[in-house]
Amino acid sequence: MANSGKSYDIIDHTYDVVVIGAGGAGLRATFGLALKGLKTACITKVFPTRSHTVAAQGGISAALGNMGKDDWRWHFYDTVKGADWLGDQDAIEYMCREAMPSVIELEHYGVPFSRTESGEIYQRPFGGMTTEYGEGPPAHRTCAAADRTGHAILHTLYQQSLRNQAEFFVEYFALDLIHDVDGKIAGVMAWNLDDGTIHRFQSHMVIIATGGYGRCYFSCTGAHTQTGDGSAMVLRAGLPLEDMEFIQFHPTGIYGAGALITEGVRGEGGYLTNSEGERFMERYAPHAKDLASRDVVSRSMTIEMNEGRGVGPEQDHIHLHIEHLEPEVISERLPGISETARIFANVDVTREPIPVLPTVHYNMGGVPTNYLGEAVQPVGDDPDVVIPGLMAVGEAACVSVHGANRLGSNSLLDLVVFGRAAADRCAEIVKPDTPHPALPNDAADKALDWLDSRRYADGPVLTADLRLEMQRTMQAHCAVFRTEEVMAEGVEKMAQVWAQKDDLKVNDRGMIWNSDLVEALEFDNLLQQALVSIHGAINRKESRGGHAREDFPDRDDENWMKHTVAWLNDDGTSRFDYRPVHGETLTDAVDAVPPKARVY
Ligand code: FUM
Repeated sequence: MANSGKSYDIIDHTYDVVVIGAGGAGLRATFGLALKGLKTACITKVFPTRSHTVAAQGGISAALGNMGKDDWRWHFYDTVKGADWLGDQDAIEYMCREAMPSVIELEHYGVPFSRTESGEIYQRPFGGMTTEYGEGPPAHRTCAAADRTGHAILHTLYQQSLRNQAEFFVEYFALDLIHDVDGKIAGVMAWNLDDGTIHRFQSHMVIIATGGYGRCYFSCTGAHTQTGDGSAMVLRAGLPLEDMEFIQFHPTGIYGAGALITEGVRGEGGYLTNSEGERFMERYAPHAKDLASRDVVSRSMTIEMNEGRGVGPEQDHIHLHIEHLEPEVISERLPGISETARIFANVDVTREPIPVLPTVHYNMGGVPTNYLGEAVQPVGDDPDVVIPGLMAVGEAACVSVHGANRLGSNSLLDLVVFGRAAADRCAEIVKPDTPHPALPNDAADKALDWLDSRRYADGPVLTADLRLEMQRTMQAHCAVFRTEEVMAEGVEKMAQVWAQKDDLKVNDRGMIWNSDLVEALEFDNLLQQALVSIHGAINRKESRGGHAREDFPDRDDENWMKHTVAWLNDDGTSRFDYRPVHGETLTDAVDAVPPKARVY
């Protein structure tokens, strides 16, 4: 045990690699690293199988063609189009090409996929997934384990991690990155929630796998733990995040509760209606209808409600129907949402429609990386400078395969493909047991100063109140449709939230299971990401994918086909730069898709 010079004893650890987060991406990276012989620690604030991946429902995409003709190049085309030409086509090629072996690998690891009559992996249609480069019928591409696919995958990945002797630090809250004497990222500080001890993990590589930050919104399909802790650490280290203005609203969160009703429902034949009983998606997306991509469906629903055709006394939601489906289809393919609808909406899905509303679901932005998982940032004339010692995977990362709008079922795919890619790349860069450089004496101080500033916070403001102010502001001012005026008001309100962040009151001064303190730290993490998101949204003067500006309704490829890169300044404002979109593919196995109008 060393002493930091502060009031904490610090327990030191050295590893080749530290992975922060134990969702699908973190676990796939963790056991991939263990397989490569690298001494790896996986630090996670919740037990691995409670990570949010467990809640993923509808499935994982891969052009296996088990239930109709399919081709990974069609999947590539759909993803480029779904991303509204903000995705990097080299990375998209990599993901779609690797999808089939990745899913077969999962099958061999033991994921209990649903099966066809002939015993192959069951695949359902999902939004924006088509055949024949958008010209053919919907693709059956989304491989499903009923509507609990994330649960099945996460448990299997955890079992594989145990099988490969990966080391876990469970219920450890990662605080901040640390740097060596040369300023290179050299590990992370963490707090063991269970016994209150402080830990310094030194490593040659840190892999951020901490998921998204959906909880900066009031209504969100994500777990309350989705606070983007790793990405906030990246901001605090003076590094940028990318494309944070692109926030996905899932069309079918349960009205009021926000709980997810999978897009797989529409894949199985479910449909949406307005107060007039009209299947309105036929007007907005004549070809794909209810299976248009998520941004299109969420916008259409919002227009229906805004024009007075929402259902309910307030005309503030929409109906999702599956009453017409065969009861066996519901019980075999959609058992999870049947239960969710009963618990959260008091609805028997075999008899009545589910009340739904577009609900925050996914962050397209995150730590900018290349397709190998290495964190990058623009420096001078080079937009893709690798940041030594740092990688990111999963929702925390912006590879960018999802660009301005992610297609449903491409997320579970992203987790396993890039989790594995990061482990493979890491094994090329880090040699097992390489000695660690010296750390400066004050390596831990920044993290501990932050911890203490919240642990001993004695101001007048409750974390829950200020967090609610942030969540309501983001919900109202950085929503499905955006304007300069509404967002400018939001920026002003968020500045007021920022101004009060040091006035928090934390009542519990202890270190053991201090949820009061955890919430204060998580709030800081959320706030930092919410700020760069709303600042990025007001900065981007066009409409693209999930970023729909009523005052700039068109996509502007000439000026805005570029990634936003945002740093958070000390005063809570943001600074921007840009990286070009990779419009070229990785190999000549597929042709790049040039930008065109995006219609479904
Ligand atoms: O609707 C869903 O099942 C969600 C899937 C996804 O976000 O990929």
